[in-house]
Amino acid sequence: MGEENENLNPTILVVDDTQDNLDLLEFALRRKPIRMLRAASGFECLDIAREQNPDVILLDIQMPGMDGFETLKRLREDELTAKIPVILLTAQKKDPVSIEKGLQLGADLYLTKPIDTEELLVRTRMLIRIRRAEAELVRIKADFMAMLVHDMRNPILIIKSFLELLLEDENMKFLSDDLKMIAGSALNSSSTMLNLINDILDLSKYESGNVPLQKLPQQIVNVVNDVLQQMVIQCRQKNITIKKHIAQNLPQVIIDGAKMEQALMNIVGNALKFTPEGGTITVSAGFSEDAVLEDGAAGPMIQIAVSDSGVGIPKEELPHVFDRYKQLSTAGLIRQKGTGLGLAICKLIIDAHEGKIKITSEVGKGTTVRILIPLGKALVH
Ligand SMILES: Nc1ncnc2c1ncn2[C@@H]1O[C@H](COP(=O)(O)OP(=O)(O)OP(=O)(O)O)[C@@H](O)[C@H]1O
Ligand SMILES: [Mg+2]
Repeated sequence: MGEENENLNPTILVVDDTQDNLDLLEFALRRKPIRMLRAASGFECLDIAREQNPDVILLDIQMPGMDGFETLKRLREDELTAKIPVILLTAQKKDPVSIEKGLQLGADLYLTKPIDTEELLVRTRMLIRIRRAEAELVRIKADFMAMLVHDMRNPILIIKSFLELLLEDENMKFLSDDLKMIAGSALNSSSTMLNLINDILDLSKYESGNVPLQKLPQQIVNVVNDVLQQMVIQCRQKNITIKKHIAQNLPQVIIDGAKMEQALMNIVGNALKFTPEGGTITVSAGFSEDAVLEDGAAGPMIQIAVSDSGVGIPKEELPHVFDRYKQLSTAGLIRQKGTGLGLAICKLIIDAHEGKIKITSEVGKGTTVRILIPLGKALVH
């Protein structure tokens, strides 16, 4: 329903514990260009709203059990229902305390009983129009950002290539150390900028539900080795020991190797960033014949785990670790600045493989990131 319903009748979910009120309204609306869904309690409202995504919810405040305010609060807390416009229905005319409370909880409008069906229709249409305009604005903003970032990519690429050429040039040896240092810093900054642009472009592409996977049978050990290979120098510079435990005879998996490397690269990169000098990073990979995920998915899975002996993440911050542009308090402990996009991108890549990514951590002890990839039909012996 919702936005796709442009030319159809809007759907309104009416929530009232009194069946007579629902019958009466259904009768009054029977010839109107509107489809009515019924819910007899706040709980029913939450279920139906999630399943049917109505255009508007008309919510009675006074209900036994869960009242209208609590129902509204829960609707707003749930990602799936947070944006559905809600009209609160009050028995008393102009009850300022209820109006204030409802608006604070995110109600869009108030109507008083008895309901004037014409007014209800006009208000419903108005709310739908506002919701569409808001969605359109968000889309325009996202498109504009994507275009802007995309157009920045080429000039940065050119700057970076010129700086690389300059630094490789024979005549470079005649320049002073200061000038070499300046050119080197400019090259580092242009690389950082290019990585950031690529991350933003990946994220906006992946978030639009488009993670183009080029799946091929792969040995997980090769993916792990490729990633670790690229980290060797940085690990050596920081005196970090890398330990690798890859189970023998792992089956091949059908995955997008490049994307999986991108995900793993960020995870190992994080471990490296957030582990002080002299620490250890352990990367392990194993096969589980019948692993079970929390959402009930079960079957053979490959698990890749990256553990570090680093600073750890405070428990209360863990739920935000996959939020985009979110850097936790641990980011303040290190000098190397990131953007907070890495784990958001990892999650989208793992989700596209129908896998799971989980983090456990303890402050002062370290962090473990686990990737689980269900094999299902993707298993090749
Ligand atoms: N192994 C880890 N140890 C401690 N904190 C971590 C670890 N991995 C992630 N974090 C925390 O989670 C935040 C989000 O990680 P994420 O990879 O998304 O961002 P980032 O590494 O800061 O930036 P980017 O990956 O975009 O360069 C980090 O800023 C950091 O606070
Ligand atoms: Mg990162």
